[in-house]
Amino acid sequence: MNKIRAAITGVGGYVPDYILTNHELESMVETNDEWITSRTRIKERRILKGEGLGTSYMATAAVKELLTKTKTDPKEIDLIICATITPDLPFPATANLVADQIGATNSFSYDISAACSGFLYALTTGAKYVESGTHKKVIIIGGDKMSSIINYKDRTTCIIFGDGCGAVLLEPTTDNVGVMDSILKSDGSGVEYLYMKAGGSRIPASHASVDANLHYVVQEGAAVFKFAVTNMADVSAEIMERNNLKGSDVNWLAPHQANKRIIDATANRMNITEDKVMMNIEKFGNTTAGTIPLLLWDYEKKLKKGDTVIIAAFGGGFTWGSIYVKWAY
Ligand SMILES: CC(C)(COP(=O)(O)OP(=O)(O)OC[C@H]1O[C@@H](n2cnc3c(N)ncnc32)[C@H](O)[C@@H]1OP(=O)(O)O)[C@@H](O)C(=O)NCCC(=O)NCCS
Repeated sequence: MNKIRAAITGVGGYVPDYILTNHELESMVETNDEWITSRTRIKERRILKGEGLGTSYMATAAVKELLTKTKTDPKEIDLIICATITPDLPFPATANLVADQIGATNSFSYDISAACSGFLYALTTGAKYVESGTHKKVIIIGGDKMSSIINYKDRTTCIIFGDGCGAVLLEPTTDNVGVMDSILKSDGSGVEYLYMKAGGSRIPASHASVDANLHYVVQEGAAVFKFAVTNMADVSAEIMERNNLKGSDVNWLAPHQANKRIIDATANRMNITEDKVMMNIEKFGNTTAGTIPLLLWDYEKKLKKGDTVIIAAFGGGFTWGSIYVKWAY
């Protein structure tokens, strides 16, 4: 009998209504549409407005859509994993809040923190539960409310990030589709290039930490760029090589949406043409853990059963990785 694999059997997504355009950013910091577009390809990003609304608000909306599309009773869900670096609260986990909101009373749930690679870490982890035979309906969420940790006076970060969330359902299959292979990596020596200085146990929130602007993302863009351009391409080439895949075997690349130039470098290294590269960076920017599930959500109608999809991402930590998926429907 074929091995039990974890098939992605549905995708849900949610992006807030408010659109923050490059032109609006021109009125907030010294920047311009031409600079942002030529350096990143981002044109607009979504921002979650509304007092008291956190990542779980977007995640719940994405999961509700997923449950409707897949005709799944929330009581059948036995695990929810949420990848996010902008949880509603330091604890409990955002996945717990979502489980309560959707009525997943038979599920256990927890969060994973791996920045922009978070969805890859969560998808790989969730797939292991399904492959082992212990769990049959697992929801994987990726999403962030980046606007809650971005300094809209810092032109080096505020142009890049946006808010959004996506979710997939994993179910067992013996059809030789689903999550086929995964390579995940991390290197904590990269912390200083992309992180948030305060708000954790090292520097808890205080008047002084707020006054010093320590609760915002800081990034050394050029260093992150250099790291990303090499490592996202390398890990994508590595997963293709160990699965004997050539560029012509790949139907889709689903790359983290941070910068079009980094995406191009990965596609070139994989020897695939631009028409096979999923892209929505123009309209959503970098939603951190949200980019990959939001890509799958956007491209769901174009995907066919048996399609070979390579997912690739990099992020703060550093973290990076690649997943080979055979689309299941
Ligand atoms: C952030 C990023 C777009 C900046 O592009 P870059 O080509 O590296 O630009 P640099 O940081 O070298 O800055 C070049 C110049 O533009 C200026 N600049 C920076 N941000 C600007 C902005 N928003 N608008 C206009 N000018 C800007 C800089 O001050 C610098 O000016 P100088 O030459 O007078 O010193 C790019 O480094 C990048 O994409 N890095 C990776 C970031 C990423 O992917 N993060 C997410 C990780 S998951």
